[in-house]
Amino acid sequence: MTDVRVAQVGLGKWGQNLVRNLDVLGRLTWLCEASDERREAFAQRFPNARTTASYEELLADPELEAVVLATPVPTHHALAKQALEAGKHVFVEKPPAMRAGEMEELVALSEERGLVLMPGHLLLYHPGVRKLKELVDSGDLGDVLCIYGNRQNLGTIRKDENALWSLGVHDLSVIQYLIQEEIVEAAAHGHAFLNEGVEDVVFCYLRFASGKIAHMHLSWLDPHKMRRLTVVGRDKMAVFDDMELDHKITVYDKAPEQPSDSYGEWRTRTGDTFSPKLSNAEPLKLECQHFVRLVQEGWDGREMRDGLEVVRALELLTGSLRDGD
Ligand SMILES: NC(=O)c1ccc[n+]([C@@H]2O[C@H](COP(=O)([O-])OP(=O)(O)OC[C@H]3O[C@@H](n4cnc5c(N)ncnc54)[C@H](O)[C@@H]3O)[C@@H](O)[C@H]2O)c1
Repeated sequence: MTDVRVAQVGLGKWGQNLVRNLDVLGRLTWLCEASDERREAFAQRFPNARTTASYEELLADPELEAVVLATPVPTHHALAKQALEAGKHVFVEKPPAMRAGEMEELVALSEERGLVLMPGHLLLYHPGVRKLKELVDSGDLGDVLCIYGNRQNLGTIRKDENALWSLGVHDLSVIQYLIQEEIVEAAAHGHAFLNEGVEDVVFCYLRFASGKIAHMHLSWLDPHKMRRLTVVGRDKMAVFDDMELDHKITVYDKAPEQPSDSYGEWRTRTGDTFSPKLSNAEPLKLECQHFVRLVQEGWDGREMRDGLEVVRALELLTGSLRDGD
C-alpha cells in the first residue's frame, strides 16, 4: 500500500477544515494558497508541509501523488484538468465543474490516465446518508417511489451563487447516490428577490428513467432551518433529518396496501417507527480517508460518474429556471 502524499490547494473557509483532517491522517505534504497572509499563517501552523503560491511548483513535484482543491468554484475545472494532466489524483470540492461538457472532459481525462477524480460531496460520508443507502439497497423500504429534500433557512445570502448551486448540489448528490439512475426530466422554478439574477428560492422537480420522482425546496428566505430528506418506499418510509441531535434517521413502517379481501381498494398500514443508532464520526474525515483509500486501492469510478450526473442535473435545472423567467 503506497504512502499517499497530498497537497491542499486553497486555504479559505472550507480549505482549513480539509487541511486539519489531512494533517491528522498524516498525508499533508504541500500547502498552496494565493493570498500571502493566509499562506504564511498556515505555514506557521503546519511547519512539516511545504508552502507555495505556485500551483505549477507543487504539480512539478514527482513525489506528490494527489491534490485536494478547495478554491472558488469557477477555478475547479481548470485546476483539476491541470492536475490530471500532471499525473496527480484529484479530490475537487463541489461542484467540480460548472458545465456538463467540462465535467465530461475531466471524466475522460481521469479514465485515460487511470487517475482518481473524486468530487467533494460531503453528505455522502455522513453516517445518516450511509444508513439511508443501506435501507434503500437492502430492499428494506421496498421500491423507492419518490424522494424530496428540504434545505432552507434564513441563512447566508449569497451574491455569487444561487440557491440551486449553493444548496441543491448537496441534495442532488444524495438523491443520485441513492437512486443511481439517469435523470429524464428536470424542471425548476424560482425567483431572485434580493440580488438580481441570483435566485434565493428554488423549487425543483426531477424524474428518473424508472419513473421514480424527486423534489427539492431550496431557499435562504425561510423561517425554518431544515436539512431534511424523505424517502418514500413501497413498503416503508425513511427520513434523514440533520437538524436532529439523536434521531437523525427515522424509519416509518407505513405503507399503502391492498389486502386480498379489499377488492382492489387501497388501505393504509401503520406499524412501528424506529431510529437506528449512527456512528458520530466526522463526515469530512471519512471523506478524506475515502479519497486516500481510492488512490491506494484503485476504484471503479462511481463517485466521478455520480458527480457528472450532478453537474448534468444542475445544468438542466439551471436551463429550466432561466426559461421560466
Ligand atoms: N463540502 C462542503 O460542505 C463545502 C462547504 C463550504 C465550501 N465548500 C467548497 O469549498 C470551496 C472553497 O470555498 P471557501 O468557502 O473555502 O472559499 P474561500 O473563498 O473562503 O477560499 C478559497 C481560497 O482559495 C484561494 N485561491 C483561489 N485561487 C487559487 C489558486 N489558483 N491557487 C491557490 N489558492 C487559490 C483563495 O485565495 C482563498 O483563500 C468551494 O468550492 C466551495 O463550494 C464545500
